[in-house]
Amino acid sequence: MLKLMKVSHLQRNATRLTSTHGCSTGPREPTILSYCDIPEPKSSMPLIGTSLDYTPLRGFQHIEFYSHLRKRHEELGEIYKENILPGLTSSTVFCCTPEDTKTLLRNETRFPFREPIGYILKLRNKFGLSSGITQVNGEQWYKMRKVVNQHFLSQKSVWHYTEKHYQIAEELADFIERSMDSNQEVPDFELALKRWSLEQAAIFILDARLGLFDEANKDSNDFIVNVGKVFQCMGDLQIGIPLWMLYETKLYKKYEEAWLNVFHHVKEYRRKAEERHQHKNSESQLQKFLRTSNLGTSEVDMVMNDFLTAGIDTTANSTIFPLYLLAINPEKQEKLREEILRYIQNEPLKGKTLNQLPYLRACLQETQRMFPFVALSSRKYEKDIVLSNYRVPAGVTIMNTSNIMNNMNSKYFDKPESFRPERWLEPEERNKARFAMSGSFGHGPRKCPGRLLALQEMNCLIAVLLSRFRIEYHHRPIEGKFRLLTIPSEKARYKFVKI
Ligand code: HEM
Repeated sequence: MLKLMKVSHLQRNATRLTSTHGCSTGPREPTILSYCDIPEPKSSMPLIGTSLDYTPLRGFQHIEFYSHLRKRHEELGEIYKENILPGLTSSTVFCCTPEDTKTLLRNETRFPFREPIGYILKLRNKFGLSSGITQVNGEQWYKMRKVVNQHFLSQKSVWHYTEKHYQIAEELADFIERSMDSNQEVPDFELALKRWSLEQAAIFILDARLGLFDEANKDSNDFIVNVGKVFQCMGDLQIGIPLWMLYETKLYKKYEEAWLNVFHHVKEYRRKAEERHQHKNSESQLQKFLRTSNLGTSEVDMVMNDFLTAGIDTTANSTIFPLYLLAINPEKQEKLREEILRYIQNEPLKGKTLNQLPYLRACLQETQRMFPFVALSSRKYEKDIVLSNYRVPAGVTIMNTSNIMNNMNSKYFDKPESFRPERWLEPEERNKARFAMSGSFGHGPRKCPGRLLALQEMNCLIAVLLSRFRIEYHHRPIEGKFRLLTIPSEKARYKFVKI
């Protein structure tokens, strides 16, 4: 039998709660409302929960999941709970107020618990692989995380690669010049960005170049296409009725096939990089940390796999948004270009200064407000927690929706519809926005380990592109849609005008 998930006391708690229709039977406290009182969708029915809402019968589309969440909050308020299919799933609490976000952050423990994703575990168990850093909790998680943190959370490590990252950004800019059509647009700019983000991640992780802008390199396309498929399948498997729990659905099989392909490619990339290192009697910094750790071979394999794949679609997709906002706000683009040119013409390139250019930083912060790269953040807590004056028992999954609920709210952001990076340079405005959003990279000790790397990649690319091109966009407005990450509703057809 497949062991889908390790049952921890957190999960046992959640099961106990949902077996009484999500309500604790304990005594009620006078001022704090009970879990039972948290509003639930009116469409929820005994036995089948809200599963029908996630079918075409009710017009559900995965890509519109953010609108679905906003409608739920509109209908039920700042906090609600929902169980899609009782028996198979447990209730999840959705909350979004700054006070609740603050409570969630303050209650982060040393080993924050993020619910493992069942279909990922199913696959990894089926093939006898390690669950990987993203899917384990507690001490087991910490054992892996503390090894990778040495490389990923060290500014020194990340800044050591600034020049190489800048060089790869220049290669993307050369590629843009070579590939522009008669409209000065790059036909498949998304694919070019994925090549760029993989090349950037590979140099940092393997200390090796993959040569992805080399015309002859066809192999990488297959890898990148399959990483894309994995993300797409995950987006679809994540939401709605989890039939994959009962049998291997067509969608699950598609996910498995793409994932195995990716795993195979990662092994090949590693093998080639290690061969080259052996030749030079060297190894990558991350490899050194992993070799000297007490992690087993299977864990090391999965760490390498997860890190090489986690940064491709995430960074490539997210980078579409600052470029879009700068393209449709030419005066802000000009202001940023001035800052960048002043810097690169007067100072030697350094990670510390490039990553701290104030207006560049503010532009990326403002982009994350308008298009949170990842909108949802989930946790389970070991203790009961009070959210919006309801007591949420330990072990219940809590989903923070603040990124998409508050980002356009004038209560927290003046003129929220306008792209105004300046707001992040004004202490009063920054203060007003505190805790309004949980952030694109998660929070606490489990926050994305790749964030310094991803931001450095973006900083280098924006600096290179703005110093070489004026970026324009002449198509339908881009909106943020859901596919696990926030993805653009339109193709990134930017016009690159050489300057
Ligand atoms: C713009 C790009 C990226 C975004 C928006 C992003 C976002 C996130 C978020 C929201 C989480 C969950 C954090 C939490 O639970 O608090 C996460 C986890 C993770 N990210 Fe990223 N990420 C990005 C790039 C990267 C890169 C470049 C890498 C590695 C090369 C990476 C590797 C990981 C890993 C391994 C985890 C799991 C960490 C753990 O469970 O301890 N990410 N990321």
